[in-house]
Amino acid sequence: MSGKLDAIAEFREDHRKVRDDVLELTDALKNKDVVKAREILGRLDSLTGPHFRYEEETLYPAMRDFLGEYVDQLISEHTDIVNTAKACAGLLSKDELTDEEADEGQKAAKALLIHVSNCDGLAILSERLTPEDLDNLGDKFWEARQKDISLLEWAEKIRAV
Ligand SMILES: [Fe+2]
Repeated sequence: MSGKLDAIAEFREDHRKVRDDVLELTDALKNKDVVKAREILGRLDSLTGPHFRYEEETLYPAMRDFLGEYVDQLISEHTDIVNTAKACAGLLSKDELTDEEADEGQKAAKALLIHVSNCDGLAILSERLTPEDLDNLGDKFWEARQKDISLLEWAEKIRAV
């Protein structure tokens, strides 16, 4: 690897972190622990901002040769996740959750978990890109992290969709 970072390894490592945070968030919501849930959502917002941005600006376009229109489905999953994250942030701005709100939050967490599972499948396809393309992915992923814009801020101010 000569790109700024190992795109596939870092991509999968992000997914592991999101997976673990989402499972922790589900537990916090189950226990109606708003403070904990808010803290985890904040972590996810920071982590997924550069990740989603890198995917939409660089990785997903590179996957079109393999996947065609399926890429559009991944982008629309992102849109759903952004909307859900906004709704969750709204819910968690309150000090207490009703049973329904806690359930709603857990459903949102599950949707994110499913996307993580779908998205991680791209790793196996990425392995068939050329070394030059992989270096470019590593550079672009690094740049997205350097820019360090959270998910909700990116969605509101920068995202093209
Ligand atoms: Fe991803």
